Amino acid sequence: MTTRTPQRLLVTGGAGFIGSNFVHQTVDQRPGVAVTVLDALTYAGQRSSLEPVADRIELVEGSITDAGLVERLVADCDTVVHFAAESHNDNSLRDPSVFIQTNLVGTYTLLEAVRRHPDVHFHHVSTDEVYGDLALDDPARFAESTPYNPSSPYSATKAGSDLLVRAWARSFGVAATLSNCSNNYGPYQHVEKFIPRQITNLIDGRRPKLYGAGLNVRDWIHVEDHNAAVWRIIEAGRPGETYLIGADGERNNLDVVRTLLAVFGQDPQAFDQVNDRPGHDRRYAIDSSKLRRELGWRPRLTDFAAGLRSTVEWYRAHEAWWRPVKAAVEAGYAAQGQ
Ligand code: NAD
Ligand code: DAU
Repeated sequence: MTTRTPQRLLVTGGAGFIGSNFVHQTVDQRPGVAVTVLDALTYAGQRSSLEPVADRIELVEGSITDAGLVERLVADCDTVVHFAAESHNDNSLRDPSVFIQTNLVGTYTLLEAVRRHPDVHFHHVSTDEVYGDLALDDPARFAESTPYNPSSPYSATKAGSDLLVRAWARSFGVAATLSNCSNNYGPYQHVEKFIPRQITNLIDGRRPKLYGAGLNVRDWIHVEDHNAAVWRIIEAGRPGETYLIGADGERNNLDVVRTLLAVFGQDPQAFDQVNDRPGHDRRYAIDSSKLRRELGWRPRLTDFAAGLRSTVEWYRAHEAWWRPVKAAVEAGYAAQGQ
C-alpha cells in the first residue's frame, strides 16, 4: 500500500463548507501538520468559518486562477487538497461563466503549478454528479467505472476538471488522486443549500421549500466522514486512482423535510412545493466498496436523524454566522418561484 505523511498542506477553498470542516479536523487531530488555506472568499467562503483555528493556520486570500500566487504556494507545500469550486447547481443555471473560470481554469492553473513540482501530491475533491443521475427504481449505484454523463453546468465543469486531473497524471506524471463524494451535510454549509435552507427557514418560522414533489433522492454523508475519507486517500491512495466516497445514506427530499419538521415538532405536511430545478437529477447513489476494501475507510456518523439534530443545534447556536446572508438568498430563490 502507498503511504505518505503529509506535513505541509495547501487547502484550496478552505473557507467554504467542506474545506473549513477539513481544516478544523486537521488542526484538531493532526496538530503537527502545517495548513495554508488559499481561498478567494467569494460569497461562499467566510473568514469566520476559520476563526476558531485562525491562530494555527495561514489564510491567504486569493484565487486559484492567479498563476503567480498559486506557483508560490505550491512551491511551499508537499500536498495540495483541492476543494475550491463554485459548488451550487442552481447558481450554475443562472450564470455558468464563473463555474468555467473557477472549476476548469482554476484546476488547470493548480495542475500546471504541481507539474513544475514533482514532489507535490495533488488531491482533487469532486462530486458524484459527474456520473449524471439514476432512475428512482434502478437498483444500480455509481461506481468508479460508471461513464461520465453530467447534467448541469456545475457538474459538467466538475467532470471537466476531473478529466484534466486524469490527463495531467497520465501525460505529465503529476502525482494525483481523485475522490467523488455524495451530498454532504453538517456545520458551516451555506444557507443556499437544501438542508441549511430548510433548517434556517424553520428557525425563522417559514415553511420548508421542496422542489417539485420532493421525490428526488440524494445519498447523504456527514461532512466529517467525507473529510476522514479524504485524509485516508491523501495518506494511502494509489496515484492516478479515483475513489468514490459515500455512506449508504439514500433518502428522498420529502423524507429529509419530514425528518426536519419532526425535529422542530411541526406537522409533517407543513412544507411548500415550489418550482422544480430545470434538468433536476433524479437520484444519486454511491458504491464506496473500493475505498472501504482498499483503504479500510468506514463512515462513523451514519445515524442521519441524529446528524440532522446536531446540525439543527449548530445553526441555532451560530445565527450570527448565517443571518447576514439569509434574506438575500431567499429573495434570489423567490425571484425564481422557489
Ligand atoms: P462551498 O461553495 O461551500 O465552498 C467553496 C469554497 O471555494 C469557498 O470558500 C469559496 O470562497 C472558494 N472559492 C471559490 N472560487 C474560488 C477561487 N477562484 N479561488 C479560491 N477559492 C475559491 O463548496 P463545498 O460544498 O464546500 O464544496 C467543496 C468541494 O467539494 C467542491 O469542489 C465541490 O464540488 C465538492 N463536493 C461538494 C459536495 C457537497 O455536498 N457540498 C459533495 C461532493 C463534492
Ligand atoms: O452530490 C454532490 C453534490 O451535492 C455536490 O457536488 C454539490 O456541490 C452540492 O451542492 C450538492 O448538489 P445538490 O444539487 O444535490 O444539492 P442541493 O443542496 O442544491 O439540493 C439537494 C436536493 O434538494 C436536490 O434534489 C434539490 C433539492 N432542493 C434544493 C433546495 C435548495 C429542494 O427541494 N429545495 C431547495 O430549497
